[in-house]
Amino acid sequence: MVWRLASAEGALLNMILDEGPSSVTGVETSDLAIDVVSRRHRQAIEQGELKLVRSNASAMPFEDGEFSKIFSVNVIYFWSNSDQVFQEINRVTATPGHVALCYQQQGPDKKDTFNPSQVERSLMSAGFSSTETTTAQDKWNGLYFCTIARKIAG
Ligand SMILES: C[S@@+](CC[C@H](N)C(=O)[O-])C[C@H]1O[C@@H](n2cnc3c(N)ncnc32)[C@H](O)[C@@H]1O
Repeated sequence: MVWRLASAEGALLNMILDEGPSSVTGVETSDLAIDVVSRRHRQAIEQGELKLVRSNASAMPFEDGEFSKIFSVNVIYFWSNSDQVFQEINRVTATPGHVALCYQQQGPDKKDTFNPSQVERSLMSAGFSSTETTTAQDKWNGLYFCTIARKIAG
């Protein structure tokens, strides 16, 4: 099962749904984004492969350990209460389970800088068992990262 935060372009969601039968839940605060994704993926919703839930990532209406794979792309910048969001993500992650957070070094307002070692430390403080970050750079995104956090038994 895959759970995601935010929906706008949703290239990764397209790839997952294209892979074949899935069970994906999307979480979004914005009615507009939910509306756009609902229209774009009507068939997947009708087939029960995609569910969209309007919720803030800091307090989600899900059971503990409900999701084995979680991802977010370009959302971390908006979590002013990121420690609370990381704890909530940890709560809904299954054991074993994985979380992937993808983000650029600079947020959209170019004021804040997102540092992988800080993100990794916060994820470990939230209860994850291990973390690692992949770094890349291109002309469209500048420097960007994908931090993977794992939850394992014991
Ligand atoms: C920049 S868009 C990224 C969308 C998409 N993942 C992409 O890369 O194109 C950020 C999205 O995160 C959503 N968002 C921001 N804070 C959120 C929160 N606390 N909980 C859930 N969604 C949130 C916004 O409504 C917005 O749709």
